[in-house]
Amino acid sequence: MEKIYLDYNASTPMAPEVVEAMKPLLDDFYGNPSALHWAGRPVKELLHSARKQVAELIGCSPREIIFTSGGSEANNLALKGFYFKNRHKGNHIITSKIEHPAIINPCKFLEQIGAKVTYVDVDRTGKVTLEEIEKAITKGTILISIMHSNNETGTLQPIQAIGDIAKEHGIAFHTDASQSVGKVLVNVDDLKVDMLTIAGHKLYAPKGIGALFMREGIQLEPLIHGAGHEFGLRAGTENTLLAVGLGMACQIAKQEVGTLGLKELTDYFWQQLQDAFGDQVVLNGHPEERLPKE
Ligand SMILES: Cc1ncc(COP(=O)(O)O)c(C=O)c1O
Repeated sequence: MEKIYLDYNASTPMAPEVVEAMKPLLDDFYGNPSALHWAGRPVKELLHSARKQVAELIGCSPREIIFTSGGSEANNLALKGFYFKNRHKGNHIITSKIEHPAIINPCKFLEQIGAKVTYVDVDRTGKVTLEEIEKAITKGTILISIMHSNNETGTLQPIQAIGDIAKEHGIAFHTDASQSVGKVLVNVDDLKVDMLTIAGHKLYAPKGIGALFMREGIQLEPLIHGAGHEFGLRAGTENTLLAVGLGMACQIAKQEVGTLGLKELTDYFWQQLQDAFGDQVVLNGHPEERLPKE
């Protein structure tokens, strides 16, 4: 029987263009990107191009992209890195009850070392409400972290409006966009976020690579101390092979997001399910504000 793979929220296959872009790094480009000699220089350039491709997809400067091992690490860097560096300003963080464990568990860890965390509820469609966010804010709130879209229901969160609230109160704002980048258009200025998480293997890049967008001016403590890689925020010789894969996946996403008719396909699928099973099928999540949107 032919197998049909539908679980692209769990992980996507790698795009053939991504595989092709990575191949030269398996043979010729083995130098250390930090090395100043002939073997290092082209690898540094490849790393820079990859950073630029990621930045272009989400509308930021390459200097604001930190490569990580994936969405989990990017979330950890955003939450713990921000808390460690900024806890003198306050110790309260706001997040939601529907976040991925890669947000919930760093928050639980931070609670063990003195942070106060509010986990706001969602409405019946799986959406965080602005009232809940407003209600949760205290004088000590330093960070709000709300996911861009949920990994199970696909419900899109009101990120832009939460960004407005965060700005108004002078609170830093992070979004875990692991499920959204590559599926819907994501622009960090439109969303008014200070930090944003990308997970490569959700958008046709390899597993084990991701990135954190960190707006200029945001201060983070690195989680891995060492030499000055990734602007001093993540020590360790860069995984150029995987970064190049993520860069290519982002370049493709920039061209293709919103052009593939995924919304029509999803609506068609849902209609067929309803026709076949009537009341026996229930839609979990928001009827409109959910992935895919375009
Ligand atoms: C919303 C969300 N955040 C974070 C992650 C973790 O990403 P990674 O597997 O790259 O660490 C996932 C992956 O399932 C996810 O769906």
